[in-house]
Amino acid sequence: MDSRFRAAHPLYKWLFGFCLLLIICVLSIPKGNQLPNVTNRNTISLKSRIVKVPKTPQKYFVRTAQCHIPFVDPFNEDVMKIYKPQTYVGCSNESDLVTTHYDSLQQRYVLHINQEVAQHLLNSTDEEYNCFYEEISYGQEIDTYDKLKADKYFTDGYVVPKHVEGMLLECQTAEEPHIVLQRDAFVFIQYQPVEPSPKMKKPLVPRKPSVIMYGIDSLSRINLRRTMPKVHKFLQGEGWYEMQGYNKVADNSFPNLFAILSGYSPDTAKSQICDTDVSGCFEEMPMIWHYFRNASYLTAYAEDESGSNTFNYLKPGFTEKPTDYYFRPFLRALEVETEVTRLPGQYMRYCMGRRVVNRYIYDYCRQFMQRYVKERPIWGMFWTNHYSHDDPFMPSSMQNKVLTDLLDYQMDGAFEHTIMIFFADHGTRFGKLRDLKSGFLESRLPMMFIYLPPWFREEYPSYARALELNQNRLSSNFDLHNTLKHIIEIGGGGELPKSYNCPTCQSLFYPLPEDRTCAQAAIDEHWCTCEPYRSINDLEWADRVAKSVIPRMNEYFAEKNLSHLCSNLSLNYVHNTQIKTGLAISWHDDLPQLEEAVYRTKFKVQQNSADFEATVVFNNVTEKAEVKVETISRTNSYKEDSNCIEDKIAKLYCICLSDLKP
Ligand SMILES: *[C@@H]1O[C@H](CO)[C@@H](O)[C@H](O)[C@H]1NC(C)=O
Ligand SMILES: *[C@@H]1O[C@H](CO)[C@@H](O)[C@H](O)[C@H]1NC(C)=O
Ligand SMILES: *[C@@H]1O[C@H](CO)[C@@H](O)[C@H](O)[C@H]1NC(C)=O
Ligand SMILES: *[C@@H]1O[C@H](CO)[C@@H](O)[C@H](O)[C@H]1NC(C)=O
Ligand SMILES: *[C@@H]1O[C@H](CO)[C@@H](O)[C@H](O)[C@H]1NC(C)=O
Ligand SMILES: *[C@@H]1O[C@H](CO)[C@@H](O)[C@H](O)[C@H]1NC(C)=O
Ligand SMILES: *[C@@H]1O[C@H](CO)[C@@H](O)[C@H](O)[C@H]1NC(C)=O
Repeated sequence: MDSRFRAAHPLYKWLFGFCLLLIICVLSIPKGNQLPNVTNRNTISLKSRIVKVPKTPQKYFVRTAQCHIPFVDPFNEDVMKIYKPQTYVGCSNESDLVTTHYDSLQQRYVLHINQEVAQHLLNSTDEEYNCFYEEISYGQEIDTYDKLKADKYFTDGYVVPKHVEGMLLECQTAEEPHIVLQRDAFVFIQYQPVEPSPKMKKPLVPRKPSVIMYGIDSLSRINLRRTMPKVHKFLQGEGWYEMQGYNKVADNSFPNLFAILSGYSPDTAKSQICDTDVSGCFEEMPMIWHYFRNASYLTAYAEDESGSNTFNYLKPGFTEKPTDYYFRPFLRALEVETEVTRLPGQYMRYCMGRRVVNRYIYDYCRQFMQRYVKERPIWGMFWTNHYSHDDPFMPSSMQNKVLTDLLDYQMDGAFEHTIMIFFADHGTRFGKLRDLKSGFLESRLPMMFIYLPPWFREEYPSYARALELNQNRLSSNFDLHNTLKHIIEIGGGGELPKSYNCPTCQSLFYPLPEDRTCAQAAIDEHWCTCEPYRSINDLEWADRVAKSVIPRMNEYFAEKNLSHLCSNLSLNYVHNTQIKTGLAISWHDDLPQLEEAVYRTKFKVQQNSADFEATVVFNNVTEKAEVKVETISRTNSYKEDSNCIEDKIAKLYCICLSDLKP
């Protein structure tokens, strides 16, 4: 955690980070923008040392034979009408009374009590006080935690026992009535030495690359550029590759992350292995961490906001500890045992005790790397939901924190060793950003950056070259899954099974085909951003398209035997309608006559004002419509509308008769 420095000298730390960033920026200028051959450009004065290169604005993320993904200006006029960067709000203005530091000689965490802060909180220099902690640990059942009742008293310099992975601490006046000076909570990655085995004695050949996955929920590559430009700048540094053609394969978090971590879609998993809705299934699934563990990696998994955790939200969660380090029990303890605060109008927890929620997750990530990355291969995923899920603009308030994480990891030397994946599951799925012209791109293009450490680029130059090329080719979650498997294979051992749901997917360390289509990347038509759509402003035409979709939804309720629970739907009004013109028709030309075409329609129904977005093949003459109901997106919240049914997919479409608003 090493929070001592941060606590004692926040400004100093910030300045240090800023200088580092500055150095990185300066160093990366000549590499990033290739300086023009100045003698060739007689319009540019030779005298001006800083040559402003007129860079042609990027028009496409991907422009290949079968795929044109338009680049969206993150600061365009539309968005600037609604976007205002937000300021960071902290959880406490008090200085830290207790800080921790890791003593690398003893390989132990040490607690420090700051006397000045204590005296300040006591309003006195000679009053006595006590500090003690309660240990929190993994519970009997994996979803619970144990709290040891006995208080352990400690003084400055206390060496935390090795078995303590989490603690709630408190300092209070010695005299009665006890007045609490401060409460705090820490979670530790305790170092476990590598078990000596004959295999481990000699250095690993070939070297196994560690992999750390740093994730932020609901952040598109467009919104990253908009809300965290400084982070984006950092991610353009040496060794970073942006998968600009990375297109999500499903609607929300679970199926997108599940595809990365298992290579399956939930539906296929259900028919081939087990139903992810049933308790015990995640233990049977060939999740990626089992492969990493089998290849002698140490593993970790951490997420915030327990109600929204990927494997727990409307899912049974795990029955056994999935990874060597598993944060959820500690999260539950923090959520219950510390003071929780939310920002006005926000549903997710913002502070747990004295810290913003995501700080626990990314500190855990930092400790994991600090403890191990120099000596053995590790895999870990560290994910936060709470500041990006509900408000697409809130990440702007967290940009300095995220940048500091990256700079801290860099300062620790983590980037010398580890492959880092800095990513999201999808973009903004609802709200005002979705209503913009670029809304469908915002939701379908999560950010995806991959960092390769110097040794890896040197050892595998062809992989680095392929990754560079693939930055502007279409890729998907299943390719990332194969890439993770490829990384495990690099460390030795046999060939591993690849993405089950996408036989045509591949590791991103090999060049992707130039003529790749969404189908080849297992991206459904509805999620595919390869073929640009354009808006239809003819209202009568737009109405006809939407009205052709709704009867299909009502038939769906009938087929699923839900008609007695769910109201039939009827059109209120159409938000917008787009027609797919195909790649042959240039974005700038007029629309030719197309009797049958693919449309994307976003509309509101009368029942509880629910909003939907559907992709439909509509015949403009016969009015015939084809639509797969389960690919229709629900674009506003359904929480209040579908309490009468449990089916997670049907929940998106069903407005319960019992929840119907007048
Ligand atoms: C710049 O262009 C000139 C003229 O084409 C050529 O002679 C010279 O070698 C080039 N210099 C560099 C550094 O590429
Ligand atoms: C910290 O101080 C600032 C400025 O005085 C104040 O606006 C903010 O509410 C305080 N925060 C907390 C958590 O007390
Ligand atoms: C110190 O003073 C503050 C403000 O008067 C008071 O709230 C707090 O309880 C005092 N602390 C102690 C330990 O008496
Ligand atoms: C686990 O690792 C061993 C040896 O490294 C290998 O032979 C075996 O196939 C692996 N099992 C799986 C399921 O990957
Ligand atoms: C609801 O829609 C279905 C399918 O179109 C239809 O069979 C049924 O009669 C409708 N129910 C009501 C109450 O209108
Ligand atoms: C719906 O109900 C009918 C009659 O009760 C039954 O035959 C059918 O299998 C049910 N369908 C589904 C999808 O449950
Ligand atoms: C579809 O029909 C509408 C009139 O109903 C017409 O205005 C439009 O041009 C037609 N579109 C195409 C592409 O045929």
